Amino acid sequence: MKQFLIAPSILSADFARLGEDTAKALAAGGDVVHYDVMDNHYVPNLTMGPAILKALRDYGITAPIDVHLMAKPVDRLIPDFAEAGATYISFHPEASEHVDRTLQLIKSHGCKAGLVFNPATSLSYLDYVMDKLDVILLMSVNPGFGGQSFIPGTYDKLRQVRKLIDDSGYDIRLEVDGGVKAENIREIAAAGADMFVAGSAIFNQPDYRTVIDHMRSELAQ
Ligand code: DX5
Ligand code: ZN
Repeated sequence: MKQFLIAPSILSADFARLGEDTAKALAAGGDVVHYDVMDNHYVPNLTMGPAILKALRDYGITAPIDVHLMAKPVDRLIPDFAEAGATYISFHPEASEHVDRTLQLIKSHGCKAGLVFNPATSLSYLDYVMDKLDVILLMSVNPGFGGQSFIPGTYDKLRQVRKLIDDSGYDIRLEVDGGVKAENIREIAAAGADMFVAGSAIFNQPDYRTVIDHMRSELAQ
């Protein structure tokens, strides 16, 4: 199993002080910045485009940035996010007409590529593309908003994907997004996840380090 990565989701950060708040979450022990892109079309909310990601890079954020595209169509966004400084770009397969082509597009721009599965999306999208993936992201809430509760059916799905990854022999991260907190992170890791997105659990507390330290101590059990 790989080293665990904690990815603060800046959807729950203070947008008026985004650079400062992102840096604070990283200084508190976050490994990767999770960056939610919502388009009011694929999901019912509207957030950030590539210009804001570039502003974070210009501000001095050097940590990996994990772009979670909840947008449709996705292809025309990929060059812009890559150029702005994305490290990972993940998309929902239902939002792409040609999943294999979109994965190749991400890779051709030098980014790590991921597929995202909603709670009710079938894992069959994985059948022919495992060799092109750097990350598989399982949504443990329906996408669109922070602060929702973890859907328990995700545990079984995580176990299924963990087995698929291990059987494939490929080097693929298993990320989980939605309702992750110190109270459930150990059980989520036990089901096979190795990358944990947490928005409200971190940013809604005054001391981010206390939360992240608590998560790491649960993961170390
Ligand atoms: C939801 C987003 C998540 C969100 C998670 O659609 O993809 O990344 O920020 O928020 P929490 O951790 O509060 O459930
Ligand atoms: Zn997300």
